Amino acid sequence: RRTAAVIPAAGRGVRLGPGAPKALRTLGGTPMLIHAVRAMARSRAVSLVVVVAPADGAGEVKNLLDEHALPDRTDILVVPGGETRQESVRAGLDALPEDVTDVLVHDAARPLVPVDTVDAVVEAVRAGAPAVVPALPLADTVKEVEPGRPGEPEPVVATPERSRLRAVQTPQGFDRATLVRAHDSVAVNGEGATDDAGMVEKTGVTVVVVPGHEEAFKVTRPLDLVLAEAVLARRRA
Ligand code: C5P
Repeated sequence: RRTAAVIPAAGRGVRLGPGAPKALRTLGGTPMLIHAVRAMARSRAVSLVVVVAPADGAGEVKNLLDEHALPDRTDILVVPGGETRQESVRAGLDALPEDVTDVLVHDAARPLVPVDTVDAVVEAVRAGAPAVVPALPLADTVKEVEPGRPGEPEPVVATPERSRLRAVQTPQGFDRATLVRAHDSVAVNGEGATDDAGMVEKTGVTVVVVPGHEEAFKVTRPLDLVLAEAVLARRRA
């Protein structure tokens, strides 16, 4: 079997505040995207990484990848992304060579995922699971609300039992045909899907969970950058 990783990196990162596209912002002086590509390439199972760049930024991303050291045994492709994460992942899937059988989808916004987590996902797919997500139990209790008008208090509808909930991370791993089928059958509307496994669930395929890792958190808001810098500094110490 051959495993490739698709890295959607075409988001603007609005919630992080003004500045460059999120994937191009630096952590410890190195763009998040480079950290994310290295995190995938560190797994011996991953022989190809497809980077999905901002639609108008593929050239810039190619230059960036050329400027940074990456393992020789990993091939890298850059393709332009879409308006939504879902469209960007689709663009990455469309660029995969025929011999790829297994696909990881990994957010550029999770630059610090440890290689053991990547390998655990790859192993579970190779062992026969068509869809695998790394996930962690939640610290917070979660409420479902009835979204109201902006500024008005929102009524709580339900409190799901916390012990049954998991926060899912990436890389999410798939049998290629299963993921392509999910993308073919789920229509793009609004923001698109925020999670590939969710699209697979809608096709009736069972998704399984393996243990995630605290350091696979998503860099979304300014505070996440502070945490990411601290994790990196601790690793380098
Ligand atoms: O916005 P969010 O944090 O959910 O984005 C998750 C990942 O999807 C990021 O790596 C982002 O660059 C990517 N993305 C994309 N194309 C979009 C929107 C988001 O590749 N249009």
